[in-house]
Amino acid sequence: MTTPVIAIDGPAASGKSSVAKRVAGQLGWVYVNTGNMFRMITWAVLQAGIDAQDAAAITALEPSLRLSFEVCDGQMTARINDRLLTDAELNSPGVNAAVSLVAQIPTVRARLVSEQRALVTHGSLVMEGRDIGSVIFPDTPHKFYIDASEEVRARRRASQGLSDAVGLRDKLDSTRKNAPLVVPQGALLIDSSELTLDQVVSHVIAALRQQGIPS
Ligand code: C5P
Repeated sequence: MTTPVIAIDGPAASGKSSVAKRVAGQLGWVYVNTGNMFRMITWAVLQAGIDAQDAAAITALEPSLRLSFEVCDGQMTARINDRLLTDAELNSPGVNAAVSLVAQIPTVRARLVSEQRALVTHGSLVMEGRDIGSVIFPDTPHKFYIDASEEVRARRRASQGLSDAVGLRDKLDSTRKNAPLVVPQGALLIDSSELTLDQVVSHVIAALRQQGIPS
């Protein structure tokens, strides 16, 4: 039997991380934030003094980066070069500005495709990102796309005190050639603009029940 995976995709600040975390907690499955993996690599690129536009230098750096993943009590911990990054490092203005450029680079995506697929060895997954239902696990029957208006998303980021041009990131993420942000085929689309977190989670749990996943 294949390990079940719930794929949750959507644009920046749509609320998908909060939803994915809650669903994983409720089911006792492992929560995986793939955006943080792109952020870790971006952090390492910036630490190495490489410009995010310099695809050749990033491609040359990529094989030297060590990524490791551990699961303890349903919580996944990801390290880069044995270093656990803080939320402040992962969400710094520099990383926010560069991550969508780094995420376009084919070797970076290829590396993370294989790392993300391999995570099923840790158990049933709730994985969130941009291409989970379209590219990473296209065969999973459990696909969700969480959206919200750009205005609501910009407000959510600002209320977190973060400087993040979500509109620009979405444009880069949706228009790139390799694994762009799309609504995956078969995904249940939920617009969270006017919904509370509890309401979105209830929608997702109800759909999963219909798909045979008990909670
Ligand atoms: O989810 P988060 O906003 O933290 O993702 C940061 C960036 O990582 C996205 O804007 C996108 O460029 C990239 N990303 C991606 N594919 C994923 C997850 C994130 O390209 N599956």
